[in-house]
Amino acid sequence: MKKILFSLLFVLISSYAVCQNPYDLWLQYDKIEDKTLLDSYKKQVSNVYLNLNSPTGDVIKEEIEKSFKGLLHIEPKFDNKTPNLIISTLNKLDPSLKKKLSKTSNINDEGYVIQHISEKGESKIILSAKTEKGLLYGVFNFIKQIQLHKDLSKLTIVDSPKIQKRVLNHWDNLDRSVERGYAGFSIWDWYLLPELIKQEYIDYARANASIGINGTVLTNVNSNALVLSPRYIQKLKALANVFRPYGIQVYLTARFSAPIETGDLETADPLNAEVKQWWKDKAEEIYTEIPDFGGFLVKANSEGQPGPNNYGRSHVDGANMLAEAVAPYDGIIMWRAFVYSEEKPEDRAKQAYSEFKPFDGKFKDNVLVQVKNGAIDFQPREPFHPLFGAMPDTPLMMEFQITQEYLGGMSHLVFLPKLFEEVLEEDTYTQGKGSTVGKIIDGQLSNKKLTGMAGVANIGTAKNWTGHQFGQANWYGFGRLAWNPETSAETIAKDWLKMTFSNNAEFVDPMSKLLLDSREAVVNYMTPLGLHHIMAAGHHQGPGPWVKDMPRPDWTSVYYHKADENGIGFDRTSSGSNALDQYASEIQEKYSDPATTPDKYLLWFHHLPWNYKMKSGKTLWYEITAHYQKGVEQVEDMQKTWQKMQKYVDPQVFKETNMLLDIQLKEAKQWRNACLLYFQQFSKMDLPDLIPEITKDLDYYKSLETPYAPGIRPSWN
Ligand code: GCU
Repeated sequence: MKKILFSLLFVLISSYAVCQNPYDLWLQYDKIEDKTLLDSYKKQVSNVYLNLNSPTGDVIKEEIEKSFKGLLHIEPKFDNKTPNLIISTLNKLDPSLKKKLSKTSNINDEGYVIQHISEKGESKIILSAKTEKGLLYGVFNFIKQIQLHKDLSKLTIVDSPKIQKRVLNHWDNLDRSVERGYAGFSIWDWYLLPELIKQEYIDYARANASIGINGTVLTNVNSNALVLSPRYIQKLKALANVFRPYGIQVYLTARFSAPIETGDLETADPLNAEVKQWWKDKAEEIYTEIPDFGGFLVKANSEGQPGPNNYGRSHVDGANMLAEAVAPYDGIIMWRAFVYSEEKPEDRAKQAYSEFKPFDGKFKDNVLVQVKNGAIDFQPREPFHPLFGAMPDTPLMMEFQITQEYLGGMSHLVFLPKLFEEVLEEDTYTQGKGSTVGKIIDGQLSNKKLTGMAGVANIGTAKNWTGHQFGQANWYGFGRLAWNPETSAETIAKDWLKMTFSNNAEFVDPMSKLLLDSREAVVNYMTPLGLHHIMAAGHHQGPGPWVKDMPRPDWTSVYYHKADENGIGFDRTSSGSNALDQYASEIQEKYSDPATTPDKYLLWFHHLPWNYKMKSGKTLWYEITAHYQKGVEQVEDMQKTWQKMQKYVDPQVFKETNMLLDIQLKEAKQWRNACLLYFQQFSKMDLPDLIPEITKDLDYYKSLETPYAPGIRPSWN
């Protein structure tokens, strides 16, 4: 009897055991346990009409097979006579069915319609699009509906991407190190390409297609001209061939001095006829091999990279010269606005605007100016970049960072769509109230129609792609927002949790709260109330408010927090650097007075005394300490929530996330203690009781060095 009971218990436990494979990301296709739901799905989509003879058609077929086998435990029949799931481009769709579809005229070339209809008393689901690429996106969304346990008999989805170029930026070097990469080495095995096509390349393309990403820049913005050589173009071609059926174009970073380094020219002056010809020839060489090559991403005259300024020419001269070279092939140039000069004493937050705004309307039509979300550098929180809205005659491309350079690198759980959402929703007021950053980059408020969003990838050779399991949510979320910048972070969090782990509300509700709160937690324990760039030098992991004496003042922390006995913060009003002047008058009015500046940006725009009275009635010093403490407590809350989730997640993921949360808590405390001890030297005020006793002194925290922190190119000696 005991034995029987024991085996019964075993069966029960094992039937609940979860075993997601982290490698499969959000494309987990585990059998649906709810029998009624499963039966209804099986009935509704047992017979598939699919009549595409193309590589993309093969991808669609494979995905239908894989997902139906996994989720529904059925082998789909591809029987074109009595189908109940019809997948067809609009031009091949039976006119009687086409008539029943709503709003097909609203979709663009990448959009699709999924609709449940009744025909002669029979129920059918039609999935249609103008192109096969649209069908592929539709198929992934259709499978998602099943993953999310949606009622298929109510389906009417008409969807198109709002942004054209939805691109990952890999900061991957040819030696496979990844700048600011925390998930192992680069997945591009250049050495073994073009002969060896790894399964990862295919799975990478599939994952990206599932969230609508349609481009990838394979190389670091700090680029190496070697990638433009004929040998590497062959390697690139092999990758392009893998990605093409998934609707993904490849791009490269172009090193501006390449004509000198890999050609035989003595100059890279963009107005020089030979230089122009060199780039035209290079473009022709690439496009001959890769007809759908996307174009180039360029970091020029920034942080030591060569560029047109070296020859007394402007960014417009440089970008337009390259744009001309790729224009005959419909290529584009993504020209980065992340520039700040070594010579200029001007507040770094102002420099990109000062440099680029005068160029509005001067770039060729196939140039996108790629602007980071904030004016400094991917901080846990920054006000939106003042260039958004300031260049109505220039298409601006958003650059987000998915890899967590300044947000805890490999070890902190931070759900970035919350950060991205905040930026996209910010009102620039440049064309009246409601001129949000999102509407500027999706072209609604721009006079130009080329649109784009870039995300600096967090992908590497880690078995789960992103190192931290929850880094997957940031890759996923970027894709969703690039498709539609108005998607809410909450929807993204819920969808990702359901697709990756479980639909159970007892899991999804607390975990989506955890994700949505995680961004504010990191702001609180790293850089609350508008503080910024006070991380350790170089690798940017851990606190470093004491950093000074770097090769450039704007690489130090003291430049940004300006803490002294009189107070703390960067005065960017008219009495200081006047960076505020780069924003619309509505923002200037509000932010010029600390009393009306939102607390979250207070010390970004103002230098205030330690005893400044905050909106809460408390002193600034008190609020700083309380925010650091709150951040630590938020991580403790995350741990408590996670503890209750064991039964919904793979045991290994559960364990690892536990350990990572321990590290995050330890580091959050380090941030709190180090920053408070450091700032206390200037405030000379006591720590309030809410701060637990700090047993170590400031020197201890200063001594915590991490010489081999990942994310910067290793030096082998
Ligand atoms: C940051 C980052 C660099 C990167 C640069 C860029 O400064 O630390 O590693 O090269 O941004 O975006 O170009």
